Amino acid sequence: MSGAVKVLGVLGSPRRGGNTELLLDAALEGAAEEGASIEKVVLDALAIRPCTACDGCRDGIRCVLNDDMAALYPKIEDADAIVLASPVYFESVTAQTKAFIDRCQLFWCRKYLLGMKGKRRAGALLAVGARVRTDFHAPEATARALFHTLDAMPCQVLAYAGFEEPRSIEDHPDALRESRELGRQLAARGRDII
Ligand SMILES: Cc1cc2nc3c(=O)[nH]c(=O)nc-3n(C[C@H](O)[C@H](O)[C@H](O)COP(=O)(O)O)c2cc1C
Repeated sequence: MSGAVKVLGVLGSPRRGGNTELLLDAALEGAAEEGASIEKVVLDALAIRPCTACDGCRDGIRCVLNDDMAALYPKIEDADAIVLASPVYFESVTAQTKAFIDRCQLFWCRKYLLGMKGKRRAGALLAVGARVRTDFHAPEATARALFHTLDAMPCQVLAYAGFEEPRSIEDHPDALRESRELGRQLAARGRDII
């Protein structure tokens, strides 16, 4: 055991105080209750360009694009657990979330091109959509691809369909409690890993 478990929450929603942030905050609170040290990054507040496929990260050292993602790489590397939280936009994750994920190509190169061993960690996706029939297939597949790359499998998923208005997730009888519980579990899993 080497200090507190570090749980990184990544908010992919641009709507502050909306459903996704409520879910993420509940998860992070749950993790904190388990003794984890928590940090939340708000992607919409950062300037993160999409990956340009320049292959600059093929050496596994760094992404050559110089923007706010540079500060997130060490946070990702350090995290014992990562909670990715995104609303569903056109059946997938938000553009902010996808840009963040694509910029994790650095970790993909390290793992799959260079065979470098990454740190094992825990991972989870929180997703919310307005359509009652949203099936979350695309966000889940995208999150799993990320968490495979970050050695954070299996990826736990909590997904809630039918919530359009900001804070309407509070009408769900269990969503915030389930998120909080997920945060607790992630912190516990992270503790088993470190
Ligand atoms: C550009 C845009 C696209 C959306 N596309 C979908 C969609 O494909 N399926 C769905 O269920 N909800 C869709 N929604 C609704 C949001 O997922 C929903 O309102 C969610 O609760 C927003 O989360 P937030 O409160 O964290 O912003 C879309 C919303 C926006 C703004």
